[in-house]
Amino acid sequence: MAATVFVINGPNLNLLGRREPGIYGGKSFDEIGEECRTAGRESGLNVDFRQSNHEGILVDWIQEAASGAEGIVINPGAYGHTSIAIHDAIRAVGKPVIEVHLSNVFARETFRHHSYISPVAAGVICGFGSTGYILALAALKQLIAARG
Ligand code: DQA
Repeated sequence: MAATVFVINGPNLNLLGRREPGIYGGKSFDEIGEECRTAGRESGLNVDFRQSNHEGILVDWIQEAASGAEGIVINPGAYGHTSIAIHDAIRAVGKPVIEVHLSNVFARETFRHHSYISPVAAGVICGFGSTGYILALAALKQLIAARG
């Protein structure tokens, strides 16, 4: 049976395609979601692709993964730079997490260089646009298989 994984997206990512396309690309949120679901189907993952602008909802979804998913890909948006609550939720849930950013955050403003998520993530992918989600799903699939 296909393992369920959550792909969780934080604030402003619902605006993808319209928001600063020179930085984040021209694909819409729904297009990227469809690409993730398709990549998941091809590799035996059931991808549940979500977005919220609210920090507490992101925390709720990470907690939900404890019983509802085998792993998480998360683009925390700006909350990655600020949220101890998301850091703590990831620690609590004990499932593999991969952090994704569409842009290369290290080539941007210094306030984007720090992440509260990276220390509790299995790995980080940034700078490859929407391809980063596909790369993250491939890596997560391997991590889940290795856990048995
Ligand atoms: C982002 C990078 C963050 O710094 C920014 O706040 C975002 C998007 C990215 O995908 O490149 O909202 O996570």
